[in-house]
Amino acid sequence: MKIVSTITEYKNARRQIGGSLGFVPTMGYLHEGHLSLVRRARSENDFTAASIFVNPSQFGPKEDFATYPRDPDKDLRLLEDEGTDLVFMPAPAEIYPEGYSTWVNVEKITERLEGAVRPGHFRGVATVVCKLFNIAEPTRAYFGQKDAQQVVVVSKMVADLNMNVEIVIVPTVRESDGLAMSSRNVYLDPQERQSALVLWKSLQRAKELWLGGERRADAIRSAMTAMIESEPSAGIEYISIARPDNLEEIEEIRSPVLVSLAVRFGKTRLIDNMMLEA
Ligand code: PAJ
Repeated sequence: MKIVSTITEYKNARRQIGGSLGFVPTMGYLHEGHLSLVRRARSENDFTAASIFVNPSQFGPKEDFATYPRDPDKDLRLLEDEGTDLVFMPAPAEIYPEGYSTWVNVEKITERLEGAVRPGHFRGVATVVCKLFNIAEPTRAYFGQKDAQQVVVVSKMVADLNMNVEIVIVPTVRESDGLAMSSRNVYLDPQERQSALVLWKSLQRAKELWLGGERRADAIRSAMTAMIESEPSAGIEYISIARPDNLEEIEEIRSPVLVSLAVRFGKTRLIDNMMLEA
């Protein structure tokens, strides 16, 4: 496995690669969710590359950039064990040198959900993903359904800007009790960790209701809200039932729909989602 930290080194290594390249962008502190992307990339391409870069521009001024968990040595071991060929781990100044001034802004869909609560977040995501695609030159790039809106935003950017990369969406990997794996789960204390199960439970409830014939989005949202509010440490930021292509809220469910939510447990904010489709 080759590890590089500059764009020049990456480009040199990239030139040696013939055939298809699967690329997995990450912010590190890797878990089974990230590794499922790497495995999928490896199974579908001749070569596999990953990036580890905690992207400052996608964190708001009051968010956890400085304290975002990091463990590069462990990350590299895990990537090596998965058979990754090339790892790009740049310093912030390599990506945003002095005087950097170009941003990718995907309109409308970035104003909803995560974008409404985290202004500027998707501008940072779209910009860094665009730059990473230009640097990495992947055939395919792998993203987790866990971050459903990120998938929609990246796919829209790729379509609108005619980028020459295929976006592959990989299902959410969960702990055995249902909690979606996330680098931020380490922030949870044991009681919050227990409470956090309500995300998955409420999504399961939504699915049950829908399977039972419920088609009114507000009825499903109310049932989820009641369930989450019964957890003392949970604070709901949003519960959304939306069209998966443009994330517009709907009233009457005609499948497929994306049910997504963001809930705070103490200082930690977690997201999860589920597609309801026939
Ligand atoms: P990060 O949160 O490190 O996630 C990297 C990739 O792993 C994303 O595509 C994310 O959706 C996926 N992922 C995370 N948890 C997952 C899980 N439980 N199951 C399946 N996939 C999971 O997302 C980012 O980094 C950044 O925004 C990035 C795209 C790298 C741009 O900075």
